[in-house]
Amino acid sequence: MSTSLGIESTCDETAASVVVDGFDVRSNAVASQVELHAKYRGVVPEIASRAHIENILPVLREALTSAGVAAGNIDAVAVAHRPGLIGSLLIGVTAAKTLAWALGKPLIGVDHVHAHLYSVMLENNALPPMPAVGMVVSGGHTALYRVNSWLDVSLIGSTIDDAVGEAYDKVAAILGLGYPGGPLIDQLAAGGDPAAVRFPRTLLARDSLDFSFSGLKTAVLYHIRGVPTRGGPDVRNPALAKPPPQGRELADVCAAFQAACIDVIVAKLNRAVAQTAARSVITGGGVSANRGLRAALAGFAMPVFVPPLRYCTDNAAMSAGLADVYYRQGRFSDLGLDAVTFSQFRENH
Ligand code: KG4
Ligand code: ZN
Repeated sequence: MSTSLGIESTCDETAASVVVDGFDVRSNAVASQVELHAKYRGVVPEIASRAHIENILPVLREALTSAGVAAGNIDAVAVAHRPGLIGSLLIGVTAAKTLAWALGKPLIGVDHVHAHLYSVMLENNALPPMPAVGMVVSGGHTALYRVNSWLDVSLIGSTIDDAVGEAYDKVAAILGLGYPGGPLIDQLAAGGDPAAVRFPRTLLARDSLDFSFSGLKTAVLYHIRGVPTRGGPDVRNPALAKPPPQGRELADVCAAFQAACIDVIVAKLNRAVAQTAARSVITGGGVSANRGLRAALAGFAMPVFVPPLRYCTDNAAMSAGLADVYYRQGRFSDLGLDAVTFSQFRENH
C-alpha cells in the first residue's frame, strides 16, 4: 500500500490531496482563486502566486487532517511541476521539496497534463484499454495524446491559438457573462437552439490533429457586434458595442457556439482514434465537465473514460494518484526538480 500527498499550484487553484494506492482519494482540498481573478476575466499571474503563498499551508493542513493521515505516514510527496505559470508553480514545487526533505520521503514531480488524464482512475481504478487517445481540454490546454501507458504519453496535436476553455471564457466576456464562462455558457446552451446560428468549424488540414478556436471566437464577436467595415466602428471595442443579447437570443448563441466546439472536438477525436488505432478515449480538464460534451462522448463508438466532475478542474488528487505509478517504478525526482513554464514546455515539445 502506498500513500501519496499531492500538491497542485500550476495556475490559480491551490490544492493538496492524500491518495492511497493511486485511486483511493482520502482528501481533496482545493482553494479556488476564481473570485480574485473574476474582475479581470482571466488569471492574473502575480495575484495567483501571492494567493498560493497564503493558501498553501492551510490547504496542506486540511488535506492531511481530513484524510486522518499524519505527515510522517506519507510514502511520497508528489507535485505538478509543469507546465504552468512560473510564480504559481514555484510555490507548490518549493512546498513539495521542503516537505519531502523534512520528512525524508521521496519527491515525485508529475506533468499536470498527464495528471489530468490520470484523473479517470480516481475512485474507479478501472484501467482504460491502451493504447488510448487522451484529450485534455481546459482553460490552458487543448491537446491530444497517444497514451500507451501512464508512463508513456506523447503529444499528437494541440491548439495553435486559444484553448477551448479560453474561447469559452472570452465568448462569455463578449456576451457580458461572468467568469469563468464555461459553466455559464454550458447552462445557457441547454435552453437554446444549436442550429439558430451556424458558426464555423475549424478543422485545419485534412489529417491535422491540431485545434484552432480563435476564428470561432471572432465569429461570435462579429455576430454580436457586427462585421467591421471600412471607416465603421471598431467592433472589438466593448465601449462602442450595443448591449449583448438576452433571453432566447443569448441561449441560442451559447448553444450554437457550444455545438461548434463539440463538433470540432468530436471530429478531432475521431481522427486521432483512426490515426493511432486507439482502443479507448480518455478525457480530462475543466471543459470535460461540459454537459454537452459529456453527452456527445457518451455516444462515441468506443469506450470513453471521463473523470467525475470534481476531478475535471484542477486538483491535487490527480497528481497524487499518478505519483503512485511512479512510486511503484521507483521513479523519483531529486531536490533539484525544476518548475517548467508553459513556454519552456512548448519549446521542448
Ligand atoms: O482544468 P481547469 O480548472 O484549469 C486549467 O488548467 O485551465 O479548467 C478551467 C476551464 C475554464 O476555462 C472554464 O471556463 C472551463 O474550464 N470550464 C468549462 C466548464 N467548466 C469549466 N467549459 C465548458 N463547460 C463547462 N461546464
Ligand atoms: Zn489543468
